Amino acid sequence: MKYGHFDDSKREYVITNPRTPYPWINYLGCEDFFSIITNTAGGYSFYKDARLRRLTRYRYNNVPVDDGGKYFYINENGKVWSPGWKPVKTELDHYECRHGMGYSIVKGEVDQLEAEVTYMVPIGYKGEVQKIKLTNQSDRKRSFSLFSFVEWCLWDALDDGSNFQRNFSTGQVEIVDSTIYHKTEYRERRDHYAFYTVNEKIDGLDTDRDSFLGLYNGFDAPDAVTERQSRNSHAHGWSPIASHHLQIELEPGEEKQLVFVLGYVEVPVEDKFVENQVINKAPAEQMIAQFQTAADVDRAMDKLAKFWDDLLSVYQLEHPEEELNRAVNIWNQYQCMVTFNFSRSASFFESGIGRGMGFRDSNQDLIGFVHQVPDRARERIIDIASTQFEDGSAYHQYQPLTKKGNDAVGSNFNDDPLWLILAIDEYIKETGDWSILEEMVPFDNDESNTATLFEHMKRSFYHVVNNLGPHKLPLIGRADWNDCLNLNCHSETPGESFQTTENGEGGVAESVFIAGMFVLYGDAFEKLCLKLGKDKEAEVAAGHIADMKKVVDQHGWDGEWFIRAYDHYGEKVGSDEQEEGKIFIESQGMCIMAGIGLEDGRARKALDSVKERLDCEYGIVLNNPAFTKYIVKYGEISSYPEGYKENAGIFCHNNPWIMISETLAGNGDAAWDYFRKICPPYLEEISDLHKTEPYVYSQMIAGKDAQKPGEAKNSWLTGTAAWNFYAISQYILGIRPDFDGLKINPVIPGKWEGYKVTRKFRGATYKIEVTNPAFVSSGVKELFLNGAKLEGTVIPICEAGSENMVKVVMG
Ligand code: BGC
Ligand code: NOJ
Repeated sequence: MKYGHFDDSKREYVITNPRTPYPWINYLGCEDFFSIITNTAGGYSFYKDARLRRLTRYRYNNVPVDDGGKYFYINENGKVWSPGWKPVKTELDHYECRHGMGYSIVKGEVDQLEAEVTYMVPIGYKGEVQKIKLTNQSDRKRSFSLFSFVEWCLWDALDDGSNFQRNFSTGQVEIVDSTIYHKTEYRERRDHYAFYTVNEKIDGLDTDRDSFLGLYNGFDAPDAVTERQSRNSHAHGWSPIASHHLQIELEPGEEKQLVFVLGYVEVPVEDKFVENQVINKAPAEQMIAQFQTAADVDRAMDKLAKFWDDLLSVYQLEHPEEELNRAVNIWNQYQCMVTFNFSRSASFFESGIGRGMGFRDSNQDLIGFVHQVPDRARERIIDIASTQFEDGSAYHQYQPLTKKGNDAVGSNFNDDPLWLILAIDEYIKETGDWSILEEMVPFDNDESNTATLFEHMKRSFYHVVNNLGPHKLPLIGRADWNDCLNLNCHSETPGESFQTTENGEGGVAESVFIAGMFVLYGDAFEKLCLKLGKDKEAEVAAGHIADMKKVVDQHGWDGEWFIRAYDHYGEKVGSDEQEEGKIFIESQGMCIMAGIGLEDGRARKALDSVKERLDCEYGIVLNNPAFTKYIVKYGEISSYPEGYKENAGIFCHNNPWIMISETLAGNGDAAWDYFRKICPPYLEEISDLHKTEPYVYSQMIAGKDAQKPGEAKNSWLTGTAAWNFYAISQYILGIRPDFDGLKINPVIPGKWEGYKVTRKFRGATYKIEVTNPAFVSSGVKELFLNGAKLEGTVIPICEAGSENMVKVVMG
């Protein structure tokens, strides 16, 4: 069953039934001001950091789900409704929510009165702008009240949700005309406040939640709205809100537009006040002046559309299947940008207070957006590397506001450092900007202790070399990519964190996954050294890589697949010898991507084992058989019931590793089959089972051992977005940035006739047409650049500004 449809011409998903199987959300903002918005106008806003600078309040895991947001209420002769259906839930004659690129439009209609609210964050603006268009489609005069509503969060979201003994006495606001200023804690150490305004004279307002709602009411029935009478309350402590009341009259056919702005302001400390208790409103007034009319909002919308035109134009596909086009051209790239902005911090499954920017996550996210915003990718690499320690190890995450490492979720995840090499390698291949390697970058954010980025990368490489275990495989540390395979954490205490407890010695448990990763990204490091003329450095690195390959051959192969790890007792993990968890996806993907076993048939064997044991109708599960009991020596993994998350869930993040591996083995049909299985637009028809948004990837789909196979969770913020874009764009469609040009190597289903891709690369545009006259899966027979036949499969870099025709004939 579907709950809406794609509108590709507008790059929107149009939800037409508000009762989606879960709130279906969108993200507004692309720089520092962000909002999360659901299809019924729920959600919240924050500046840079969802934990430390939360502007509006949101209650996670609430009943009913998704209560609280940026609400509008209409009361016409006692009939109360909201344009987004919630919170009032009066049946609407017509409902629609259009989630687009950086904006959402929520529209409701009751008795021929239509209310359409556009929510957006303009480019370069520290605020959310809401344009509400009210249209009287009837032939009688209408007179009704409109109420707005937002609830302020007292900035630190964690504290806001827990420290009530203090917080109920700190809330402060100021009111000037139609603008409500939220200034809690501004009197002391904060240099920021927020405001909510409307571009018209109002007939009343409220700033105290309980006065507006009535203490025993929910958001669905505020007293002020029911009675069409604002209380004109002035918040002192308790829960400050902002609500405007406007009485509106519309002639038959008449339309009226209003502009609301929710803004964030920072003021230099010396200018904070104009007089005692009176805040300096000049910067807010400047912001408000920018959005005085509906036309101002329309212009900002045009600018936003242009911004996305530019970003998405870098890679555009024309393929006979519209689902694939919309995934590649619109939603997958959009999701990559969202994961770039948020890492794993704030979604409907990430509360914004738990995790900041993940070291490994952000490095991997980068491969999905570096082509869109290379400058910001550069900055991101430097930010990440700045949190690295001198010995090459890393904090597992850093806080977006301060950009400093945060050890609340531990460190010593021994795969972390290597992901930095992936990010740097892909950045240089995309941009040709070798200068990044000469940047001086601090260790642990200490500006007095810096080294070149090249040196950071080298320390990532040697962190593995310096931390080998008994088999000379890399020590796993707290965990590798799989945060839940905690081989040094033997926890028997309820509630103890698997990620921060390390009560095993740490000197024995080893990871075959990191070994494969070392071969793969170590090789990238070696190639970068060669390109830089550091031949000696490259030679030494090559020696370490060759040694590691040998070790994987000796200790990493189980007979039909790659072993996953060795535990604290030196026993195999992910081997046929085990009763459960015989085979894991990660080491298959990583070792084969590293090229291990491609020449001697082991890769094929391992991929066949994946097909046989891990694949199912909805994707590839992480391990098999699923663990049916808690195994202390493995940590969190077996804490999950079978089929969920890291215990045999379809962890979509590493499905693309198998797709890529299949392409390396030349099997385009299998790669495509795996791609299509988890690609959201292809799942639209099973929305009621899948549950999460049909326009973005979810981290996890319940696996074959689960109660409800096919049901997804944890949508939006997942490395799945970047890896799938990488797999489809670079390995299946086969257009891969390289140091000296675009490498062309499609590996596709044999029945495909061809497709076209427009790729912008280093300033030039390439119009690439791939044809497959012999219906093969791989192999480039002929390659032409502007009519001239090329040797090899790399299109050289053309002049910036030029447009180039590329013909690829497979065969
Ligand atoms: C989840 C992992 C996650 C980890 C880190 C675990 O509970 O299953 O997917 O990476 O927490 O916080
Ligand atoms: C989600 C985490 O964000 C990511 O870093 C990790 O690799 C996966 N879970 C698997 O545990």
